[in-house]
Amino acid sequence: MISQTGIAANVSETIQSALDYYGYKEEELIPILTRVNRDLGFLPQEALAEISSALKMPKSKVKSVASFYHMLSTKPLGRHVIKFCENAPCHVAGGREVWLALQEATNLQSGETSPDGKWSLITTSCLGLCAVGPVMLIDGDVYGNLTVEKIPEILGRYE
Ligand code: FES
Repeated sequence: MISQTGIAANVSETIQSALDYYGYKEEELIPILTRVNRDLGFLPQEALAEISSALKMPKSKVKSVASFYHMLSTKPLGRHVIKFCENAPCHVAGGREVWLALQEATNLQSGETSPDGKWSLITTSCLGLCAVGPVMLIDGDVYGNLTVEKIPEILGRYE
């Protein structure tokens, strides 16, 4: 368990590192947010405040960018993050049925995290694996040629 102080220090260090890398430039906001999101796992409110202050941008603008993009999250994610491809090639390959099965198995809608913190379920655009659609990623693991029947077994691999 990390203390509040530990989190705050980690947030500041992470932001400083991103600002050092990309510079204190408004046009670098998305790369900065992406890097901080990657390093912290999500974008806490204090991170958005620090970034807005460092870039001399309104916090509302930083927040709206952070909320707009799929790859960014302003809420803590679950221990395992399921990213399901929602684009047409996967959809026509049976993605819709698999997506419904995933929602049912996790009891989550897109963008939600389970109350026990185990799963986050999000949709994503094409992962470049259309030939083996439907496709999803769980953490860094790729699963293709998905069927409704495979979902319980795959989810069962994660603690
Ligand atoms: S459309 Fe799903 S991986 Fe390309």
